Amino acid sequence: MSEIRKTRRLYRNLGYVTVFIYFRFFHAPYDLAETLVPRQGKIMDLGCGYGFFANLLGLASKKRDVMGVEFSDRKLQYADQGVENVRFINEDITKLTVIDCDAIILFHVLHHLHSHNQQQRLLKEAYKKLKKGGKLIVVEIDNKPLWKFLFTVAIDATLYIGNWFYYRTEKQFIELFERLDFTVEKIVPAHRFVPLSHKIYVCRK
Ligand SMILES: C[S@@+](CC[C@H](N)C(=O)[O-])C[C@H]1O[C@@H](n2cnc3c(N)ncnc32)[C@H](O)[C@@H]1O
Repeated sequence: MSEIRKTRRLYRNLGYVTVFIYFRFFHAPYDLAETLVPRQGKIMDLGCGYGFFANLLGLASKKRDVMGVEFSDRKLQYADQGVENVRFINEDITKLTVIDCDAIILFHVLHHLHSHNQQQRLLKEAYKKLKKGGKLIVVEIDNKPLWKFLFTVAIDATLYIGNWFYYRTEKQFIELFERLDFTVEKIVPAHRFVPLSHKIYVCRK
């Protein structure tokens, strides 16, 4: 059985969360992003939500020591599904004190922060928390193709009524990463076959 199916099975019989994981696994590039994460070492999934990606990472490689961080109690109560190499903590990702990570993941998190400045501060902290050579993996929403971007904004606005979102273009992301001394290794468009404009940035400290 594939790791995606194994992860989905963890969330059986959980009402709307069971429905939501199907929706997320249909459109979000979890499977592609998983292949970009180191197979071993200390992996932090910041803003892990219900823990879908953290659990997938743990199931896909037992050599990963995965920690999911989330400040929503409501979401976190579903995250720990007993995968042995995956832990979760209830914390604000802007105030974390961990160090020496092999990889830090921000999967659909940056545009949900409160400002572009807050994104920059978080990424600066992420840089300090990574080992030399560690990976930063950011999954975000691109402004191209335009119709997919507008569709994504509509979905975000429906799921997070009243919130404002802080998207950036690819050029703006590259400038930001480079300003913070990350090396941008790879940019992977991840919207094939889905109507949302996902893009994955792989950076190295
Ligand atoms: C769109 S969800 C993505 C969840 C998860 N990364 C995924 O892809 O399934 C964004 C998550 O970031 C969390 N988040 C936003 N700001 C945060 C903060 N300062 N500390 C901890 N979690 C935060 C939200 O509560 C939410 O669960």
